[in-house]
Amino acid sequence: MTLSPTGIMSDLDRVLIDADAIRRRVTALAAQVAADFAGQTITVVAIMDGGLFFVADLLREIDLPVRLHTLSASSYHGGTQTSGELRLNWPAALDLAGHHVLLLDDILDTGLTLAAVQEKIRAQQPAALRTGVLLGKKRKRLREAAAEYVGFEIEDEFVVGYGMDYQGRFRNLPCIGILRLPS
Ligand code: IMP
Ligand code: MG
Repeated sequence: MTLSPTGIMSDLDRVLIDADAIRRRVTALAAQVAADFAGQTITVVAIMDGGLFFVADLLREIDLPVRLHTLSASSYHGGTQTSGELRLNWPAALDLAGHHVLLLDDILDTGLTLAAVQEKIRAQQPAALRTGVLLGKKRKRLREAAAEYVGFEIEDEFVVGYGMDYQGRFRNLPCIGILRLPS
């Protein structure tokens, strides 16, 4: 596929969710999270790089004490289909015992990433674990992974923008869009 060197919006087939709709939904999710964790310090485990903008925007709307840990996880390795093989860098010093944990990621797709990370978090015996994703794809999960907070349910299409990439690009789009891929 040839990508245009300038103007990344022109590589989109269409905008799926615009920046204003994302902002409104993230604000609503933040209110839900704040109510559920009221009185606690939230220990956020954020999956990078796709969750970058979602996590940054969500956390700034939560008026509770927050600790932030980031992990990087990848399963796509460049394409638009998951490779099924998960690479995870779990910080050796991360100890979540007794913490009120909020796990955040960009998309719940096959469930492989979140199920694996949830399993590792639970093994550390946190006081609570809740999971939030900006997008939930309507598709069959390869592994069940519960998410208490889902920004938008979307069809099983490959999306980019607001943190999500195709071959490392398009993360800086302010909206979420569908790429024009060669048929
Ligand atoms: P899962 O392990 O299949 O649930 O995949 C989750 C990860 O795959 C997400 O955190 C994203 O990084 C990536 N991913 C899944 N669907 C898309 C997409 O449509 N666009 C970009 N990245 C995606
Ligand atoms: Mg990811």
